[in-house]
Amino acid sequence: MNVLLIGNGGREHAIAWKLAQSKELKKLYIAPGNPGTARCGENVPISANDIENLLSFVSEKQIAFVIVGPEDPLAAGAVDAFEKVGIKAFGPSKGAAQLEADKAFAKQLMRSSSVSTAEARVFDRFRDAKAYIASRDEPVVVKAAGLAKGKGVFVCDDPADGILAAEKIMRDKIFGSAGDRVVVEDKLLGEEASILAFVDGRNIYVMESSQDHKPIGDGDTGPNTGGMGAYSPAPVITDAMMSQITREILVPIVDGMNRNGTPYKGVLYAGIMITAAGPRVLEFNVRFGDPETQPILMRLKSDLLSVCLAVCDGTLDQVELVWDRRQAVCVVMVSQGYPGKYEKAKIITGLQEVENMQDVAVFHAGTASKDGKIVTAGGRVLGVTALGATIDQAKQKAYLAVDKIKFEGAYCRRDIADKAIKKP
Ligand code: AMP
Ligand code: GLY
Repeated sequence: MNVLLIGNGGREHAIAWKLAQSKELKKLYIAPGNPGTARCGENVPISANDIENLLSFVSEKQIAFVIVGPEDPLAAGAVDAFEKVGIKAFGPSKGAAQLEADKAFAKQLMRSSSVSTAEARVFDRFRDAKAYIASRDEPVVVKAAGLAKGKGVFVCDDPADGILAAEKIMRDKIFGSAGDRVVVEDKLLGEEASILAFVDGRNIYVMESSQDHKPIGDGDTGPNTGGMGAYSPAPVITDAMMSQITREILVPIVDGMNRNGTPYKGVLYAGIMITAAGPRVLEFNVRFGDPETQPILMRLKSDLLSVCLAVCDGTLDQVELVWDRRQAVCVVMVSQGYPGKYEKAKIITGLQEVENMQDVAVFHAGTASKDGKIVTAGGRVLGVTALGATIDQAKQKAYLAVDKIKFEGAYCRRDIADKAIKKP
């Protein structure tokens, strides 16, 4: 079958790489894709948010199935638009995508579904948010309610910083209308993990666990980014913890979405804090995580296209996924200055050499082709991912590959997976 994948990040390169291995695939198109996805199929120069032109393209090329990677087109109703013209599409509807696109909606649903999360208040006016934050002497987390590319969350140990964050979001509008509302919540302590599950409206199939590294600096210091690296599995997620998360979080949320009249289908991503009192939800995302998808899909042995189709057909209960028992580590190489301002168009070398390494895959994120060369074109540039018999071996191999890849100002964290390695 002909398939269209929408998006152009590291996540989409990993999805394209995995789809390209499917026996059911005839031709893969990626809109708009990147130089990495160009090697898995044909890139199409249509923006991920240009739903009208994507619809025309789908009918022109007889595409039977569309997979939507990023949250923006999902929140804008891409899946609803394809389904309306009779095309199967993977991902939640616009209504269901609110679970990520509107943090106030997500909090409300968690409350009504008895899912444990941080205590939170929602504010539409800066002065109310300010008064509330000022009245507290504990650390607070201030979040833009709308979509902010993973950067809309400020963890503030000092309430004064919380007020500043609310001001930037609500008054200075650094995230535009995504900051018309803020959610102010208690800071949770513990270790984080990402739990991704396929959901077909009714059935839930939980993937292997993973852990992201959000802050820019080693030891989780500095501002949050889209994600600086990930590994899978996450030892903090024991079998018992995974059952508890499924029972107390995933099942009630999927039920809650049905009760709300917004049934959930696609990938449901729960960002979890494992606190001393048990697992608590930090956020839901309505798509594959980036960079978690890179190590997770490197470990998936089964056909990704078949499971995505089963999600759309409501037959997930007939699916059995097989995972590589080895562990995977993905190190994200970023441009100097990210998550702030950075320069682009730096020539990347060493990719060819890394291609010959076994059990290593380099997933492109912010790259472009220029005069026959691959250059940087974004903040997060590459996700260098490796498999190893142990997490330590996977880490060593990933960094061996990272050190062969060069571009001016290249930066990466040096401690990806250390939390797993240091576990007793
Ligand atoms: P989110 O996009 O909501 O997952 O937030 C991004 C990051 O901010 C998370 O991965 C956590 O590291 C941190 N964070 C969010 N909410 C909280 C919270 N209530 N307590 C502590 N850290 C949080
Ligand atoms: N890795 C975090 C995210 O995908 O939002």
